[in-house]
Amino acid sequence: MKILVTGGLGFLGSHICVELLENNDEVVVVDNLFNSKMEVKDKIQEITGKEIKVYIGDCADEILMDKVFLENAIDSVIHCAGLKAVGESVEKPVWYYQTNLGTTLNLLKVMQNHQCKKIIFSSTATVYGVPEKPQVDETFETGKTTNPYATSKYMIERILEDVYVSDKTWSIGILRYFNPIGAHKSGLIGEEPNGIPNNLMPYILKVAKGELPVLSVFGDDYDTPDGTGVRDYIHVVDLAKAHLKAVNKLKEGAGIYKYNLGTGIGYSVLDIIRNFEKVNGIKVNYKIAPRRAGDVAACYSNPAKAEREMGWKAEKNIEDMCKDAWNFAKNK
Ligand code: UD1
Repeated sequence: MKILVTGGLGFLGSHICVELLENNDEVVVVDNLFNSKMEVKDKIQEITGKEIKVYIGDCADEILMDKVFLENAIDSVIHCAGLKAVGESVEKPVWYYQTNLGTTLNLLKVMQNHQCKKIIFSSTATVYGVPEKPQVDETFETGKTTNPYATSKYMIERILEDVYVSDKTWSIGILRYFNPIGAHKSGLIGEEPNGIPNNLMPYILKVAKGELPVLSVFGDDYDTPDGTGVRDYIHVVDLAKAHLKAVNKLKEGAGIYKYNLGTGIGYSVLDIIRNFEKVNGIKVNYKIAPRRAGDVAACYSNPAKAEREMGWKAEKNIEDMCKDAWNFAKNK
């Protein structure tokens, strides 16, 4: 199979490329290097011993995307490219909508022109907004989103549904990620956010390295076992492997398939800190701070549908996630 990975040099995209190459698929990447680096291409090739073809540019560029599809007989697209910082999306909503929707619409248009009708879309658990219950399955209502980033992902899900309604020969996979962390075990690829991180694990890594003084734990008075927020952290390699399963699922036939991707286990902020300290033998300096606006007490997946229908299940545990994240970050 020849697979186009948009955003293929990013955190998730790079891990997907590795898994595809190890599965003997051919990989073509389009990446604008906005939140990634060209050297990631070499790292992917170093890990796998295989070549990938990379086009540097934007998925919103119709001429570029047309060239990509003309030069490569793409079977399926895995669409990871997009902006993903929640806080930034609140400050710059027009940019977020224009980027996330514009790139996707252009990609879909070019795919239609080239009769490529298989796409897997990187969505997010935040399309559920504030969930009715902490353990979320795919039947839960979506759309009550709380920030432009989440809304843009929800809108793209709706667009994909309309595409399917208009032409039932499309095969569309919508994967709703919970909280991806960790890194490839080689330590060669991982998450490298620009500036001061917003998310928990990248912040812990900076504190562990001594680059930031202290982690603020946002609230210890939630209705959770230890009072801190509970989330479903999933190893990025498990997440990447789910995309291979999704590619196979789409081969079964046309349809629109939606899956939660998580472990189904909720860990609190303090659980993560303790596990990180234990497996890596490093102290993480933290203090309790007020709740962060927009956070929910607990949110974790019911991943049963992905296992039932795609045969995918997360295999790595919280210790693997903490160990591999540090293994990547400590050498940076
Ligand atoms: C966030 C995004 C989500 C995105 C995900 C990527 C929101 C509302 N959602 O999820 O759209 O897909 O990141 O992984 O922002 N925490 C601290 N101190 C910190 C940072 C975080 O205590 O410095 C806590 C948070 O309060 C939360 C947990 O750690 O309880 C996880 O936070 P974070 O990593 O930012 O992820 P989410 O907010 O779950």
